[in-house]
Amino acid sequence: MIEIHNIHKSFGGKKVLDGISGVFETGKINLLLGASGTGKSVLLKCIVGLIKPDLGSVTFDGTYFTNNKLDIRQEIRRKIGMLFQGSALFDSMTVEENVDFPLKMLTNMSRKERIERVNFCLKRVGLEGANRKMPSELSGGMKKRVGIARAIAPNCTYLFCDEPNSGLDPQTALKIDELIKEITEEYNITTIIVTHDMNSVIEIGDKIMFLFEGKKLWEGTKDEIMDTDIKELNDFIFANRLMRDAKRIEEEDREEEQEREAEEHARLEKNKPAG
Ligand SMILES: Nc1ncnc2c1ncn2[C@@H]1O[C@H](COP(=O)(O)OP(=O)(O)OP(=O)(O)O)[C@@H](O)[C@H]1O
Ligand SMILES: [Mg+2]
Repeated sequence: MIEIHNIHKSFGGKKVLDGISGVFETGKINLLLGASGTGKSVLLKCIVGLIKPDLGSVTFDGTYFTNNKLDIRQEIRRKIGMLFQGSALFDSMTVEENVDFPLKMLTNMSRKERIERVNFCLKRVGLEGANRKMPSELSGGMKKRVGIARAIAPNCTYLFCDEPNSGLDPQTALKIDELIKEITEEYNITTIIVTHDMNSVIEIGDKIMFLFEGKKLWEGTKDEIMDTDIKELNDFIFANRLMRDAKRIEEEDREEEQEREAEEHARLEKNKPAG
């Protein structure tokens, strides 16, 4: 479980994060949702320690991270896997070298052990045997898979993904989402995904935190998000025509159901034996 408390961050007098608190649960997909420029990536970077918040704290499974001693921070860092926006593979390295990179940096494994782990992770993301390929030979979806394999290679406890399915077609995007969800549940990882994709919300959002202009405006599950009456969140969700249609159909279905229930009730009342 990751807890954040009262995170503030400004850049040059411009407030980007304005006191955000919350909890990200273990074994679940926690989504940071919000429009472009609301501070999602900055918050993610504050949590992993790539940006130092001006105020506030982050705790990983009860261990205080922000401002703690370097060795404790490094110990936590070792447990963090990160999938950067755009995959960020090393273009001059093969797939195998990319996935091996954090193992070389962060573990004392022998070369043989590392290659076994690389092969295991590549297999897990459906890229068995792609070891010798260069990133330039891969499709966008395959690059994301390599990015995920690299993130989970050092047995991560915490997984952070910034827009993991941006730039992918809807079907490939869904496969990447599902892969992250499977891995999260299989290894009981605390996963935080930054997204503005409503498809991801509906498919995999166990818990969602909605950010708006640097504040947390709402949090809840994917089943609750459609029924919110917060204007900013509704504007965000229903900016998309498909989502508006989905909501309208859901409401019509609900009304029909209520009418049917009322009719059934009236029928039962009418047929009730007297007395
Ligand atoms: N290092 C930085 N220096 C100055 N300003 C920054 C820095 N990083 C982010 N910002 C500003 O903080 C704001 C929030 O940026 P952030 O990248 O977190 O947005 P986002 O919600 O991730 O948007 P997107 O969905 O487009 O990725 C932006 O106005 C951005 O210009
Ligand atoms: Mg971003």
